Amino acid sequence: MTDTQRASIILGITGGVAAYKAAELARLWIKAGYSVQAVMTEAATHFIGTATLQALTGKPVLTDLWGSSGSGMDHIHASRQADLIVVAPASADFMAKLVQGRADDLLSTLCLARDCPLLLAPAMNREMWSNPATQRNVAQLVEDGIGMIGPDSGEQACGETGVGRMSEPQAIFEAVESLLHQGPLSGKKVLITAGPTYEPIDPVRGITNLSSGKMGYALAAAAREAGAKVVLVSGPTALATPAGVERLNVTTADEMFEAVMSAVTDADVFFAVAAVADYRPAEIGAQKMKKSEQPLTLNLLPNKDILASVAAMPKAPFCVGFAAETEKLLEYAEAKRKKKKLPMLVANLAQNTLGADQAELIVLDDDGQHPLPAADKLSQARRIISHLSKLLS
Ligand SMILES: Cc1cc2nc3c(=O)[nH]c(=O)nc-3n(C[C@H](O)[C@H](O)[C@H](O)COP(=O)(O)O)c2cc1C
Repeated sequence: MTDTQRASIILGITGGVAAYKAAELARLWIKAGYSVQAVMTEAATHFIGTATLQALTGKPVLTDLWGSSGSGMDHIHASRQADLIVVAPASADFMAKLVQGRADDLLSTLCLARDCPLLLAPAMNREMWSNPATQRNVAQLVEDGIGMIGPDSGEQACGETGVGRMSEPQAIFEAVESLLHQGPLSGKKVLITAGPTYEPIDPVRGITNLSSGKMGYALAAAAREAGAKVVLVSGPTALATPAGVERLNVTTADEMFEAVMSAVTDADVFFAVAAVADYRPAEIGAQKMKKSEQPLTLNLLPNKDILASVAAMPKAPFCVGFAAETEKLLEYAEAKRKKKKLPMLVANLAQNTLGADQAELIVLDDDGQHPLPAADKLSQARRIISHLSKLLS
């Protein structure tokens, strides 16, 4: 399972003071685009209200083995729809139950009936944690293939200090991220530029182009799905940042150059998708230029070539260029690939692709041409990532 848009997580909450932290965890997952179903034990409802979790997840909280959704089979259905179950906090009592395979409430039953990974974030008093019974249970659960996150050491709700605090929601979130994103680009950093640049003429006018950013954003989502850490340097667009992607906003080609140069140092792959302006006005008016009857000549200076600069670095990442041409597509695209010494380039006809939701593409590499028949840009992005992964391996 690598699609962050569709990943579905069951958040199990058991009876411990740390139950309040489960609300923050649910919020982080919802923000990242996951679907979250909260399931609480009866004891958990003494610590945090179902209304909080329902409001955060947008779904009724399941608490009852005896058919709270009306189907009477929540223990099977809920776990079948899940890509992962995370119990946070996991009480000492709940872990003991799991070891024995007991199933006397909804959460323990669906853990037993699951066909997906299970992660526990234990939280309890330090003596409860270090008790040999709990330690035996933990060892057994690990042997049974159940993942453990934490617990951490520190000050506890009871006033004592030691090991037993639930890991912070952010740490649990990150552990789940790496579990869900073990794709072909796992462990790789991918830097992507997207969208147009805007070169100001005066405070209200500028030179830009018709790039929407859709292809670059789709590639960012696909690279993230494939497990990469993704940094997206974006010109002005109206698009939402794909879940789990770090986005750096820029306006001009110069700003994009600077952002790329500071983010590229540890990148493994660089996708130059942005439609970077080739020229910028030599002078930018401090005030709005007044209309006149005379012809206007703008003096333009060439911008730095971002892709060529990255490709020429001594330890250059694997560089993938994009060529949008209006004629002689293959001839111009292959010439660009050769000139900039790129191992891979994606060619498309600008008039069919710019701003559109679909794209018909041709990948060029040292082995020749690889046509990608017309499809929506996310599907094309996934094909490009798959092609890249093969070249990298
Ligand atoms: C105020 C209070 C705080 C508790 N905190 C914890 C805790 O942090 N960790 C834990 O394992 N049990 C804790 N317990 C005990 C559990 O709530 C108890 O074992 C309960 O039966 C667990 O039920 P469950 O595992 O079905 O959720 C606490 C009990 C109370 C009354």
